[in-house]
Amino acid sequence: MTEKAWDGRFAEKTDQTVEAFTSSIAIDRRLYRHDIDGSIAHCGMLARTGIISEQDAVLLSKGLEQIRDEIADGLFVFDDRLEDIHMHVESRLFDIVGNVARKLHTARSRNDQVALDARLYLREETRRIIRQLHALRNGFVEAARVNISIIMPGYTHMQRAQPVLLSHHLLAYYEMFTRDAERFRDALTRIDVMPLGCAALAGTTYPIDRDDTARQLKFGDVSANSIDAVADRDFMLEFLSAASICMVHFSRLSEELVLWASTEFGFIELPDAFSTGSSIMPQKKNPDVPELIRGKTGRVFGDLMALLTTMKALPMAYNRDLQEDKSTLFSSVDTLQACIDVMSKMLPRIMFKKDAMRQATTKGFLNATDMADYLVGKGIPFREAHAVVGRAVAYALDHGKELEQLSLEEMRTFSKEIDAALFDALTVEQVVNRRTSKGGTATENVKAAANLAAERLAAETLP
Ligand code: ARG
Repeated sequence: MTEKAWDGRFAEKTDQTVEAFTSSIAIDRRLYRHDIDGSIAHCGMLARTGIISEQDAVLLSKGLEQIRDEIADGLFVFDDRLEDIHMHVESRLFDIVGNVARKLHTARSRNDQVALDARLYLREETRRIIRQLHALRNGFVEAARVNISIIMPGYTHMQRAQPVLLSHHLLAYYEMFTRDAERFRDALTRIDVMPLGCAALAGTTYPIDRDDTARQLKFGDVSANSIDAVADRDFMLEFLSAASICMVHFSRLSEELVLWASTEFGFIELPDAFSTGSSIMPQKKNPDVPELIRGKTGRVFGDLMALLTTMKALPMAYNRDLQEDKSTLFSSVDTLQACIDVMSKMLPRIMFKKDAMRQATTKGFLNATDMADYLVGKGIPFREAHAVVGRAVAYALDHGKELEQLSLEEMRTFSKEIDAALFDALTVEQVVNRRTSKGGTATENVKAAANLAAERLAAETLP
């Protein structure tokens, strides 16, 4: 069957430029399994409702399974003239089973068919992403546990602010990727809706059973409105939004890894197996993996923007514009999955340089807030204490010293309330470990947070 499925009313052959221009097979061939699964479910339903005979359904299903194998084994010939994956499968089915192939498209349109394929595809890939993110989140918890007591500077405005545990910093990423996983799970409930049987846009005259089709394909729900079902791409937009936010997290992490791997920071050593060299500078070891993740973030944002723009002001119901949805979706799925995979593999192999991180906390008055808190403990209002410490910092700067390097006598020139106990409060361990407020960086908090995260990960059921 090489003639077009729709050319009955046409007096002229399609121009070759138009065939090439409108063809989507190079992109949507990736949906072949979902297309065939959907068709097998559809013909099962057609038989159970008496719309086609049982024998026909068996023939059609066998033919469809053969096509699935042919495509999987690379034996299938694709041809632009057949437009898309749906026409390719139907055309090949005709070669295999003959005229009965023409019954498969009863009570169906390519409009609901492509919506079904995209949903089956995205459901599978979103589930994979949730599992991949689970492994990545586990990686952060493990890295936090292994490096639980390493102290590093925490930053605001890229200026040293207060010391924190590296493990606390790593668990911040656990939180981000946990929210991402939640967003994907939430998106999944709206991806997992069965559109088949809405036909072109208005539903169908045949006594179909859409719940039967949904049961076979294990859908959680059946779309309620036939116009919406063929026109809706919200489920893709939600996926791309969640993917974009997830890439924000990846790009922030990557930026930090690039900075930390620099000689200026010297906080980490990336594994050789995850670094690359320079073809001219023999000494170079470059952080190309986080750089590329940072760079690929733009691609995913672009995919979201592209689909939002395609959808904007599109009238009901199906329009061919919608064919543009798949390239953006596939590009983001591929990019995100590759980023999660490579980061999960690299993370446990990053060497955190304990001494360099610790050393970096000793310069820059990271304990200034704690000196103010100490004075508050002596009954001085915080704003006043802040001013006192400000003067002490200015004095220390003038003398090229840190706060803890000032003598008790020098300290007492700023406040008579100060005694020797102040110096205990200024040690970096004290500064970290006294931050026991909920969500704070004290070692006991972070240990508990890591345990809680590990328990949660173990208890999660994966899709
Ligand atoms: N290749 C098309 C797409 O991806 C399939 C649906 C075609 N429908 C149509 N009425 N031409 O959107």
